[in-house]
Amino acid sequence: TAIGIDVGTSAVKVIAVAEDGEVLERREVSYPLSTPKPGWSEQNPDDWWAATEQALDGLTEGVAGIGLSGQMHGLVTLDASDRPIRPAILWNDQRTGAECAEIEQRVGFDRLVELTGNRALTGFTAPKLLWLRKHEPDAYARIAHIMLPKDYVRLKLTGERAIDVADASGTLLLDVAQRRWSDEVLQTLEIDPAWLPTVLESPEVSGRTAGGIAVAAGAGDQAAGGLGVGVDRPGPLSVAMGTSGVVFAALPEYRADAQARVHAFCHAVPGAWHQMGVMLSAAGSLAWLRGVVGGEFSQLTEEAAAWGPGADGLTFLPYLTGERTPHADPDARGAFTGLEIRHNRGALTRAVLEGVACGLRDSFDLVGGGERGRVSGGGARSELWLQIVASVLEIPLERLAVEEGAAYGAALLGGVAGGLWGDVHEAVAACVHTHSEVEPVAEWIEPYRELKARYTALYPALTRAN
Ligand code: XUL
Repeated sequence: TAIGIDVGTSAVKVIAVAEDGEVLERREVSYPLSTPKPGWSEQNPDDWWAATEQALDGLTEGVAGIGLSGQMHGLVTLDASDRPIRPAILWNDQRTGAECAEIEQRVGFDRLVELTGNRALTGFTAPKLLWLRKHEPDAYARIAHIMLPKDYVRLKLTGERAIDVADASGTLLLDVAQRRWSDEVLQTLEIDPAWLPTVLESPEVSGRTAGGIAVAAGAGDQAAGGLGVGVDRPGPLSVAMGTSGVVFAALPEYRADAQARVHAFCHAVPGAWHQMGVMLSAAGSLAWLRGVVGGEFSQLTEEAAAWGPGADGLTFLPYLTGERTPHADPDARGAFTGLEIRHNRGALTRAVLEGVACGLRDSFDLVGGGERGRVSGGGARSELWLQIVASVLEIPLERLAVEEGAAYGAALLGGVAGGLWGDVHEAVAACVHTHSEVEPVAEWIEPYRELKARYTALYPALTRAN
């Protein structure tokens, strides 16, 4: 068996996977998140480790390899004795607006995108480091090592300081085309290269547990999730409908969007890259609506099914927590437009499902489209929502036999490191199987093209009105 660990934002998830891909065991241990100031989001690295130890307890008997995955971009700072200096600053922390502007100015926007595949976003790691230098100089002065969340768990598990290329892509310090730290960015931002962990390809052995089990370098949760649904080479796209929504494409070669509306990262497959568009509130938008209007999800989607495509002119913009793709605008806000007196809870729900589908369409177009998608995440449990998304993207969507998110991809990487499968492609072929497919609804395609045009016109109109 192989074990996959996903150090998430609310909990660590650990699964044990058999050689044929069957999930034999699944455990979850949660931990707190603190918000000491508005827009701040922090966690204690030792909470991740304590939870992981608890989740792994008694599970490692006969295990060939362990793979790590986790929330990306978070800054863990350690002193010379490898002790956390302060709480980790997480991916969803928004304090670094000024530092992002500073980075784009110092490195140069075009050069930054060319080298790192990305623009400076508040969630990324490098701006957090600059923030610390400015606002907590005493803490900054004590830094001996920095790493990402799952890599702290690796340090405790194996004693090694290492990182994989996929997660390192989210730091803004990696030369993504060359798959190594960028001397140029480090020099320009005056960051000491000695602080950085060794960069490895995702299935490489990064170290061993005290019991001798191989621990793979692993990957950030998006690349591991992509692998877990079988997007190991160009072909089907991954369409993830969790709290956030992601359209993820494996690339044949490094390719960055010049305006960085989508992310270009190293993939968890050696020598490969991926691109992804990220919308911040996908299933999160439906959860918000339900919180406001009440009812069960199944009840809401049943009421939504009573309305036709386009919900009689009602349009929803899903920018409830700002937006990454396509606007890179933390101040973007959501909206309902076109309300009339007949609109009820079902119509509002339909508009939310459709607005999120339009947001996914933006990411789909920016990664260059595709012939089919593989769906995952809580939103994918709704047949109606899948029909809407398939009709807006105009491609069939495949559901998977086993859907365990990033932990599954991590287990595949762990298994490759431990010799269970020859390489990542072999692991995917052995373990990832589709079991059913949702087709676009032919009569919805034209109304959805009209809806998408309406949707696209709204953001600039409403932004100008502010
Ligand atoms: C990816 C991203 C999120 C976090 C949360 O860019 O920010 O997927 O990794 O888990």
